[in-house]
Amino acid sequence: MDAENLLKVEGLTFAYGEVATLRGVDFTVPKGKVVSLMGRNGVGKTTLLKTLMGLNISNGGTITFDGNDMTKMQTHDRVKGGLGYVPQGRQIFPRLTVEDNLKIGLGARAVTLRKVPQGIYEYFPVLYDMRARAGGNLSGGQQQQLAIGRALATDPQLLLLDEPTEGIQPNIIQLIGDILQQLAKEKGMTILIVEQYLDFVREISSRFYIMNRGAISAGGSIQELTQDLVHQYLSV
Ligand SMILES: Nc1ncnc2c1ncn2[C@@H]1O[C@H](COP(=O)(O)OP(=O)(O)OP(=O)(O)O)[C@@H](O)[C@H]1O
Ligand SMILES: [Mg+2]
Repeated sequence: MDAENLLKVEGLTFAYGEVATLRGVDFTVPKGKVVSLMGRNGVGKTTLLKTLMGLNISNGGTITFDGNDMTKMQTHDRVKGGLGYVPQGRQIFPRLTVEDNLKIGLGARAVTLRKVPQGIYEYFPVLYDMRARAGGNLSGGQQQQLAIGRALATDPQLLLLDEPTEGIQPNIIQLIGDILQQLAKEKGMTILIVEQYLDFVREISSRFYIMNRGAISAGGSIQELTQDLVHQYLSV
């Protein structure tokens, strides 16, 4: 086992019916790092995160997390084991209050322990101010903070985020970037973030991967993310 890799994915495959969408994905995420996963629309980034979470069941390959084989685990066991997930489009419950949305994140925990951890409101004071409001009444940026807060409720070791800057105004993007860096630095949290916004990727991550047609085509330290790669795999 490679001790410094918190996540190791080998030959991971998944198909929607007959359509092979993950075609042997190989990559690793080192402990304590912020790693970006990039790629054009439709290459399989969301499918990969869902498969890591057990929301899609892979039909080949392995997912090793903190030295344990997670490939066949149920989603709630993956969450208990230390995975947190911020889905694309946020997926908050519009009719539930902010506080109840945050408590949903604690689903894996005993009901008696379902109290929103104070740390979440410290990271996102706006969620405290709005804790009694319905999630659906929040702005897009506030909803994104709520989705991140919900994923943090179980204090994950590895946080997966799917395009958290999509449709969010610049000052909130900055805030989210600052918090992700803080989580990595202060709590040693490991972060894998699907992201299309290059400036953000360069600012917050130390490593990157590029996905193309269901597999990883390039990767390295963030300094190795060259214009050539951007041109070849990312520009439209
Ligand atoms: N539930 C589904 N059923 C069938 N096909 C799907 C489903 N979800 C996604 N796909 C297809 O799988 C492929 C990969 O989709 P996925 O959402 O993983 O891409 P993505 O890289 O996240 O794209 P984007 O950048 O637009 O979010 C696409 O061709 C998509 O149409
Ligand atoms: Mg996607």
